[in-house]
Amino acid sequence: MEKKELLCEGKAKRLFSTEDPDLAILEFKDDTTAFDGSKKAEIAGKGELNCSISTILMDYLESYHVPTHFVKRLSPTEQIVKVVDTIPIEVVMRNIATGSLVKRLPFEDGKQLTYPIFELSLKNDELGDPLINEYHAYALDLCTQEDIRIMFRMTAKINAILRSFFERRGLILVDFKLEFGRHKNELMLTDEISPDSCRIWDKKTRKKLDKDRFRFDMGGMEQAYQEVLDRIGN
Ligand SMILES: Nc1ncnc2c1ncn2[C@@H]1O[C@H](COP(=O)(O)OP(=O)(O)OP(=O)(O)O)[C@@H](O)[C@H]1O
Ligand SMILES: [Mg+2]
Repeated sequence: MEKKELLCEGKAKRLFSTEDPDLAILEFKDDTTAFDGSKKAEIAGKGELNCSISTILMDYLESYHVPTHFVKRLSPTEQIVKVVDTIPIEVVMRNIATGSLVKRLPFEDGKQLTYPIFELSLKNDELGDPLINEYHAYALDLCTQEDIRIMFRMTAKINAILRSFFERRGLILVDFKLEFGRHKNELMLTDEISPDSCRIWDKKTRKKLDKDRFRFDMGGMEQAYQEVLDRIGN
């Protein structure tokens, strides 16, 4: 399968059309950004690490009958995916309070949440991906009530599956961001699941093994992503 036209380019990935109108090639870049793109760097090997990690996790979710856009890995940095109409919403699920949650609300940083927290934000870089609730989503015509129900149900299932997957490998799934899209009328998980979009800590030491290393200049980002891959790979 070969790349034809560039369909879209984001901060971390590029999407290309192929000879099959239902399929696209998703290429993972080494570019890394944080804080709505205000902080940027190129981290050699990051694209390949995220492509590997996202391949393993999407494949694992498919084995639990979670519908995803992932079809197969094409090369170290590329996947074949189903083309979806993306729903411009980011769904965040939090198991432990940290990051923006502790800035906004009186949660103790690092505290295990009694109930996981769902959050929605509007995918809109100019507005800084603002938090919304489901009523904003309906009023903005982003999706239907049924879509939100399915997205919440799928996110809760994904959380249960991935939490125990990471737990068994000595890792804590602190929080994560998902994107959804529609392909031939089916709502499915799209984009990526990687240390760019999840917070992952070592269970014993609570060492951060995700993009927070870049956000807060902690160094050792490639090593951290490699560590995640080594633990989840077979
Ligand atoms: N299977 C797919 N079909 C259509 N679009 C997709 C698919 N998978 C990913 N995308 C989109 O490709 C774009 C590029 O990804 P990237 O993560 O680089 O974007 P980004 O710069 O983070 O911007 P965004 O805020 O849109 O995520 C994203 O908008 C993502 O939603
Ligand atoms: Mg993105």
